[in-house]
Amino acid sequence: MRTLTKDTINKIGETVILMGWVGGRRDHGKLIFIDLRDRWGMVQIVLSPKNQELLKLADKLRSEWVVKIEGVVKERPEGMKNPELATGNIEVEATGLEILAEAKTPPFDVASDGREIGEDNRLKYRYLDLRRPRLLKNLSVRDKIISFIRDYLHKKDFIEVETPILTKSTPEGARDYVVPSRLHAGKFYALPQSPQQYKQLLMVAGLERYFQIARCFRDEDTRGDRQPEFTQLDIEMSFAEEKDILDLVENLFTELARTLFPEKHITEMPFPRLPYKEVMEKYGTDKPDLRKNKENKDELAFAFIVDFPMFEWKEEEKRWDAVHHPFTKIRSADWRTEIKKENAKNLMAHQYDFVLNGYEIGGGSIREHSPEILEKVFEIIGNKKEDIRRQFGHILEAFEYGVPPHGGIAPGIDRICMILAGEPNIREVIAFPKTGDGRDLMMDSPAELTKEQLKELHIKAEKEKNVN
Ligand code: AMO
Repeated sequence: MRTLTKDTINKIGETVILMGWVGGRRDHGKLIFIDLRDRWGMVQIVLSPKNQELLKLADKLRSEWVVKIEGVVKERPEGMKNPELATGNIEVEATGLEILAEAKTPPFDVASDGREIGEDNRLKYRYLDLRRPRLLKNLSVRDKIISFIRDYLHKKDFIEVETPILTKSTPEGARDYVVPSRLHAGKFYALPQSPQQYKQLLMVAGLERYFQIARCFRDEDTRGDRQPEFTQLDIEMSFAEEKDILDLVENLFTELARTLFPEKHITEMPFPRLPYKEVMEKYGTDKPDLRKNKENKDELAFAFIVDFPMFEWKEEEKRWDAVHHPFTKIRSADWRTEIKKENAKNLMAHQYDFVLNGYEIGGGSIREHSPEILEKVFEIIGNKKEDIRRQFGHILEAFEYGVPPHGGIAPGIDRICMILAGEPNIREVIAFPKTGDGRDLMMDSPAELTKEQLKELHIKAEKEKNVN
């Protein structure tokens, strides 16, 4: 039976079997000390001259070798205790040692916080980078946040539903990642920018309260708070108004912060709900940092920005576009007379953003569920009648079969984890993130396909050099 490093402190006098990595080795004359690391921490192993054979074997050990050690847990003599280490009161006197795997010298130190190491190198050897306690902790914080959210929403009778990854383009405002179809020459799937349309169709299906920890894909320029693939807490509710959605999110994140991060405090409760126009005038941005002390990572200034305009003018494209997305409900307008291009600039939306410490951490809206009005909205943003049917026919048709009024929101999990973990960018809270130019340096992707693969997919790549 294996004992974890963290459990050794309760086993003084007992013989234990430990497994893990050699964090370091120190030779002190006749004694050898090993720092043995596992996911839970570190424990000091002592090899004494009593067993010369063992000592000889231990002499071979190098950093990051994987070992199995049998030994007796002993209280350290006074003066040798290390209050900095959770297991600092004890050490394990080895009686057996087995080498499970040798290791090359890692390309960088895995014990430091890693901030001093070039990121390309860290991403290329991410499996080593993730050994550092800071990153391990970030992954664990992320896991705790996600499981808290799942539990919380399940208690409120939400159902988690998985929606397809091979799907069709949705208008979230970024470029799509596309996947060629082998069976249907010249046709492509799009990876979802969000599960927006599926979650609305689940409302037509009668799910009423849906959520999903959903992977989303957007082909846009990467920044510190943006990745080509990222994760949303996607939520949709039927028979809900703006206030119901915002209250749900406010209560969820208040509980989450209080339970998982008791050392942090929320600047203002209830979360302020500020009109977009007022915020733009006062702060010059729609994601203001409302912390009293902007340097304080333990201060959480949540807020909702509300009352967004429905449309914005895109000068390059010379057309109106939806500020959020076209499924958003327009605020109190007579659809027969007021929902038209000439009046686009005056129309306000049932849309809200969720912000925290200067970041947009979520966005959502109450949806338009009348097919007639939706068609008008698509027309205003420049779709021709026949294109509307082709692109959104499924939604318009579904809405003719008894659609409940509904709305939702999607907080971005990566950004939330980044802020709660006190990290400066989302790559630090994602196990295998991409570089600024969208590459996975460890897997070396994107990568070329073979001529055969391309042929099977009915694709001709313009750059065929280096294809094997
Ligand atoms: P929106 O496009 O506002 O809304 O996205 C919601 C939240 O997702 C996060 N996010 C990102 N995080 C990391 N990298 C990215 N590239 C990225 N893009 C977005 C942000 C953002 O606030 N379907 C709607 C939601 C709805 O209406 O219910 C949507 O996706 O935190």
